[in-house]
Amino acid sequence: MSDSAQEFERVLASRRMCRDYTEQEIEPALLQRVLLAAFRGPTAGNTAALDLLVLSQHQVAAYWDLTLSEEKRERFPWPGLLKAPTLVIPLVRPAAYQERYQRPDKAHTGLGDSLEAWQIPYWFVDGGAGLMGLLLAAEAAGLGALLFGQFEHEQAVSAAFGVPEHCRALGTVALGWPTATGRAPSASAAGGRPDPDSLIHRNRW
Ligand SMILES: Cc1cc2nc3c(=O)[nH]c(=O)nc-3n(C[C@H](O)[C@H](O)[C@H](O)COP(=O)(O)O)c2cc1C
Repeated sequence: MSDSAQEFERVLASRRMCRDYTEQEIEPALLQRVLLAAFRGPTAGNTAALDLLVLSQHQVAAYWDLTLSEEKRERFPWPGLLKAPTLVIPLVRPAAYQERYQRPDKAHTGLGDSLEAWQIPYWFVDGGAGLMGLLLAAEAAGLGALLFGQFEHEQAVSAAFGVPEHCRALGTVALGWPTATGRAPSASAAGGRPDPDSLIHRNRW
């Protein structure tokens, strides 16, 4: 196996979510490289309708003030998550997919008619692929990252940071330098994963 293939396998296998960070900032050039990786994913019809809202310093504090009440903060299981210097909110634009599929080369699909016509919402598929690029780039750079849900806060977060109404936030990604124990498995991850061989169905399920 080539060195680059080995390095890719290492990055892929070692990526873990990180929930405890130091307060050290990420150098702007490094952060930019990691952000750009989100735009390397495949995207249906080459629609490319993923945006990143990048929060730092006061905006990070404002995010937590909005989403984590004092009361919840006292019981929050990962206080070190709040130290992450950067929060990245990946946002997708479903309407851009509808518009793209109205064009002559895609009109036959009927997907330009309405968002309800989409059996699989490709904006979430593409968004996930972009996110994986970002997570892997963070891992390759030695940074920690955590994708976590916005849950009931999506509208309030979007409004607070001027996100246009038609965008959907996929969640929030904390980025920063991990502490020594930052990548310890959460309760979800501690259970391990099924053997991939039990998930690969060859020729017939
Ligand atoms: C769509 C999605 C949402 C997630 N939401 C949360 C979350 O709200 N809080 C959290 O701590 N982890 C969250 N995670 C991280 C998962 O718990 C984690 O990826 C999983 O346990 C496997 O661990 P690993 O990524 O470290 O291998 C989320 C992951 C994904 C893909």
